[in-house]
Amino acid sequence: MNDFAPVAIHADPALSDTLPGWVYTSEAHLAVEREKLFFKTWHYAGATDELPNAGDYLTARLLDQSILVMRGRDGGLRAFYNVCQHRAHELLEGSGNARVVTCPYHAWSYHDDGSLRTARGAERQPFFDPDRFCLKPVRIEVFAGRFIFFNLDPAAASLAETAGELAADIIAETPDFAALRPTTSNPPRPMQANWKVVLDNFHECYHCGPAHPAFADLIDMACYRTTTTGLWSKQKGQLARADNKAYPVAAQANHMTVFWFLWPTTTFGFLPGSPSLSVTSTMPLTAGTSVRRFHNFALPGAPVDEAKRVYGQTVLGPEDVAICESVQRGLNSRGYTAGRFVHDPEGGQTTEAAVHHFHRLYAEAMEF
Ligand code: FES
Ligand SMILES: [Fe+2]
Repeated sequence: MNDFAPVAIHADPALSDTLPGWVYTSEAHLAVEREKLFFKTWHYAGATDELPNAGDYLTARLLDQSILVMRGRDGGLRAFYNVCQHRAHELLEGSGNARVVTCPYHAWSYHDDGSLRTARGAERQPFFDPDRFCLKPVRIEVFAGRFIFFNLDPAAASLAETAGELAADIIAETPDFAALRPTTSNPPRPMQANWKVVLDNFHECYHCGPAHPAFADLIDMACYRTTTTGLWSKQKGQLARADNKAYPVAAQANHMTVFWFLWPTTTFGFLPGSPSLSVTSTMPLTAGTSVRRFHNFALPGAPVDEAKRVYGQTVLGPEDVAICESVQRGLNSRGYTAGRFVHDPEGGQTTEAAVHHFHRLYAEAMEF
């Protein structure tokens, strides 16, 4: 049935099939994605705002890899695989401040440049060379002046070079971008769905009318536009009316909504209301499960827009979880092979052009 159906992503979205079901359901295929895609691309770790002082650190996870990002005493940011070079205990958890990085297992410790500082008892070991036991570095890059991305491929092209105008567009479109600061973030959202199902769903508002009736009342669907370019795509819309079915929006508040996707796992976006920005990572756990991690930014001291938060957490989010989990069950069906994109050349509300764009980038990365 759908096993190993050919991948037929035509350059023209109007003529293209979607990715076949098996790329969303096979554990063996996730193992191929791991090497060809995830370990060669840029992923979001956190914001420089979270690491103002020497010793401040945060950790990030990509599949079975844990990464540690730290600000050194020289003010520089560095990242390392989060693993002790003695017998492989993980070094740090979550985020915090550490003057030196000390392993909880046998207390080997490391300087903020990753070099080995102490190894208890090793001074009596013959031929012990501390230079062999430095932490292994990971490439990072600061994007749009504040977002820290990591890439496990030392030879990967720079994110700034490959992302084109995305950083400038986010800065220009996000109200009060420079004044926003990290704030309370939504809890991670696990899903019984492949990571690509979650991102496919994010990439179109074709489903908004039937599946998110309140959202389709909040945003003027007739003016909603989707554009694609290079490694990213963008969806932009505006408030339909203040007294909509989702949540009330004050006259003086921001009336726009913009979502950006940066290949392969990062989305940025905001809804109408007080200035805000969310950076979201959509990460695989297994072939059939994934997790979305949210990092929210808002104006310091601004009151939380409770109605907007409740709508996102209890209506919009759960509606998308139910959609994605149903699609994952459907992709496992022996009655499904691959679908076909609906495309509006004007980029209007019915277009799936950004899903197609995502599938093209995917097919290229996977060398289909
Ligand atoms: S594993 Fe870290 S000190 Fe032993
Ligand atoms: Fe949705």
